Amino acid sequence: MEYAIPKGLYDVLPVVSHEEDLWRLSTRWQYVEGIIRELARNYQCQEIRTPIFERTDLFLRGVGESTDIVTKEMYTFLDKGERFMTLRPEGTAPAMRAFVEKKLHTLSPIHKLFYIGPMFRYERPQAGRYRQHTQFGVEMVGSGIPEQDVEIIDMACEFYRRLGLKDLTVMVNTVGDKESRVAYKQALKDYFSSHLSSLSEESKIRYDKNVLRILDSKSPEDQEALTHAPTITEFLTPSAKHHFTTVCELLGDLELQWQINPRLVRGLDYYNHTVFEIASMHLGAQNALGGGGRYDGLIATLGGPNLPSVGFASGIERVLQAMHKQGVPFPTPPGPFVYFIGLGEKARRILMPLIARLRHADISVEIDLFGKKIQQSLQLADQSKATYALIIGEEEIQSQKAMLKEMATRQSIPLSLDGLFSELVELHNESKQKTGTI
Ligand code: HAM
Repeated sequence: MEYAIPKGLYDVLPVVSHEEDLWRLSTRWQYVEGIIRELARNYQCQEIRTPIFERTDLFLRGVGESTDIVTKEMYTFLDKGERFMTLRPEGTAPAMRAFVEKKLHTLSPIHKLFYIGPMFRYERPQAGRYRQHTQFGVEMVGSGIPEQDVEIIDMACEFYRRLGLKDLTVMVNTVGDKESRVAYKQALKDYFSSHLSSLSEESKIRYDKNVLRILDSKSPEDQEALTHAPTITEFLTPSAKHHFTTVCELLGDLELQWQINPRLVRGLDYYNHTVFEIASMHLGAQNALGGGGRYDGLIATLGGPNLPSVGFASGIERVLQAMHKQGVPFPTPPGPFVYFIGLGEKARRILMPLIARLRHADISVEIDLFGKKIQQSLQLADQSKATYALIIGEEEIQSQKAMLKEMATRQSIPLSLDGLFSELVELHNESKQKTGTI
């Protein structure tokens, strides 16, 4: 198709024709977004919305020049003023840029921010990996104590629990403080130097640029060397060790299943201390649902005060796909209260102001403007999941009476045309009281 959607992108749609596309249903996205907003309220997080592109330098400094995101995946362009701009590949650096720029630290010592929005990464598209994906992210600024790390891990797990996701692995690790990392990186360099010839090309590059990232490698050639690689535990400074031990103890107090994964380093350079990732067993290769960690130096790197922060982000596509694979039920959106069928121009002339009044009174109704055969219209009424259908034709106008048909029971209720508005409002109120849903 000449104007097909570019590779690695997808549409979110009101209806889909294939089972594997169910995750694209806009009603499902809205459902997950609703849960996010409720969760954010419970954890006292407030929304931040940043632009979808920023100066390229923000990501070079913020995310790290040796990361895959910066070296391979950024959508960067020169604007008409010859400035390099980049479609945001992630949300942490932009949120902290806004934080620093608007001096939010002067307004309160603690900030708990959340966002839902598109991110852009030029990656090789595959199931669960897109060139535009949507993240729900949380960033908590102002507290450096381990309780804050635990609050964010609990929030991430609670998000998945509320969605009904099961069989998750929660992996936690520490990347220590700067001093621990310097010692650990040196130990890794020493260790990998004797394995260099057998390492993958990618890991050879990582050896020079950021040796920590070799731990992240999925290449089969690297696995042998990785099994015996030193872990960070023995290189932690006493304070880094204390931070991590306390995080683990506090996590142990919660009703959570989690484990330490000493090889977890995450692909962004801003992390220190705690890092974590949550994966689903129901997804294939791209099984990471979400991840995050502490990033105490980022705000200062961006020119702000030296404030500690911790955050996480989750991909919404993967969440929806995991929910589908696991058979999690989604609520069905309610249909219209009444589906009106007007047979002929005269009938529609009566119905148009009526449906406008009902809608203005906060009642959801639909009118058949397809204007074909009555059987087809009734089929559409059925499909729309309407509670009632009401047909008005020549006969009804003559007698000034119409039959309101209850779709579920096929029972009919006689109504007079001139009292239609108030009768329908009353009926709507009654059913609202009965079900509490319409
Ligand atoms: P990240 O692990 O790069 O972290 O991305 C977070 C989540 O976004 C992933 O776990 C995954 O679910 C989803 N994701 C990433 N790339 C793609 C893709 N190409 N297609 C589909 N989904 C994807 C961050 O971005 C950090 N900013 C998280 C964070 C917030 N750390 C601290 N605060």
